Amino acid sequence: MSNHHFETRISTAARRPVKSHGYVNPKLVRGSTVLYPNCATRREIGKRRLEQEEIYGLYGSETHFALETMVAEIEGGSHCQIVSSGLAAITTPLLAFLKSGDHLLVPDSVYGPTRRFCDTVLARYGVSTTYYDPLVSEETLVGLMRPHTRVVFSESPGSHTFEVQDVPMLARVAHERGAKLFMDNTWGIRTFQPFRHGVDASIQALTKYVGGHSDIVLGAITVASEEDWVWLRNGALDLGQYASPDDCWLALRGARTLNVRLDQQANHALRIAHWLNDRPEVQRVLHPALPSCPGHEFWRRDFSGACGLFGLVFQPQFDYAAVAAMVDSLQLFGIGASWGGYESLALPTSYTITRSEGTGSFGGEMLRLQIGLEHVDDLIADLDAGFAILRGQQKMVCASPPCLADEMQDLYNPESAA
Ligand SMILES: Cc1ncc(COP(=O)(O)O)c(C=O)c1O
Repeated sequence: MSNHHFETRISTAARRPVKSHGYVNPKLVRGSTVLYPNCATRREIGKRRLEQEEIYGLYGSETHFALETMVAEIEGGSHCQIVSSGLAAITTPLLAFLKSGDHLLVPDSVYGPTRRFCDTVLARYGVSTTYYDPLVSEETLVGLMRPHTRVVFSESPGSHTFEVQDVPMLARVAHERGAKLFMDNTWGIRTFQPFRHGVDASIQALTKYVGGHSDIVLGAITVASEEDWVWLRNGALDLGQYASPDDCWLALRGARTLNVRLDQQANHALRIAHWLNDRPEVQRVLHPALPSCPGHEFWRRDFSGACGLFGLVFQPQFDYAAVAAMVDSLQLFGIGASWGGYESLALPTSYTITRSEGTGSFGGEMLRLQIGLEHVDDLIADLDAGFAILRGQQKMVCASPPCLADEMQDLYNPESAA
């Protein structure tokens, strides 16, 4: 199987015709109680919670196991745990692995709710977090490691600002000092193979491209060793992590077409990124495949492609009101959180960005675009009309730096959850 191309593998993975009475798709199994043939089986089966065994609803059913097999295949790992959301896929391994007194390193560019979790829940349980520049040098990172640093966290590219990280270097520093590397690999689905670059636990918000249709919320954590599977699986079950089998079934269905959707969305996003790069209103396009994106060299080295999500920075003469007027005027781009669905979205992001290490100040209002499956010419025409509105709103440069204005008070802003 592993010698086949990606398209072949996601078409054939997780087929269990015997269990599905011959049907190509796995059964949708809903249930809590599982009946055992006798007491001896009951006693035995309880010891198999690390395996794909139908023991009790919480431990998963054929439907969950099929999706777990599929995600492990996509990520290139050996075991996968499905959890209730992408955010739960971040919090579960952190809670499962860390203990009071431990220290954690997190990039300053991290997804807002991850930061909030570290600063509230983990802090309450005695785990301290240090934020680091996502483009940190090896020397500086080594200096940030403490004797009790147990996890280095990565999100590459970073939420909203798209800094691509040097993941092999993060892995080297972490492993040489006995720490694990956890990575939110949602953006890099299919194009970044986490375990080839030293990641120990790879996180996916299946809500995005695997679901692909903006109709489920779901997450997954994949690991590549038995050792990591033991703490992850036990931790997830101890925390009562579970996901609806209906959602798992939909995610599995979405995964079958992941490749064709991603190809089109990534190609169109790149075309739009190049078009935006030539616009006078745009100061900088934050697309990992463009040299203007911080960490572009790591994308070139480690990724095999991109997805449909990227950002841009406007010239400083356009303030938030002008950007909001442009976004409000768009006909095809919805204003919505999340990404990876079939529909295009535009989201002003400057005010949702929280930084504590002084990174990520780009000197202009920012916009995040998720490119859906619409025709690319229609999307470009929509943006073009939006630029006319933007120019009509042009103002003198505002006095305060736009990205940092509301920095700290936005720390727990629910709008950063996207
Ligand atoms: C990079 C990233 N990770 C994780 C998540 C969380 O996913 P979910 O919305 O399923 O909780 C998101 C959601 O926007 C995200 O952008």
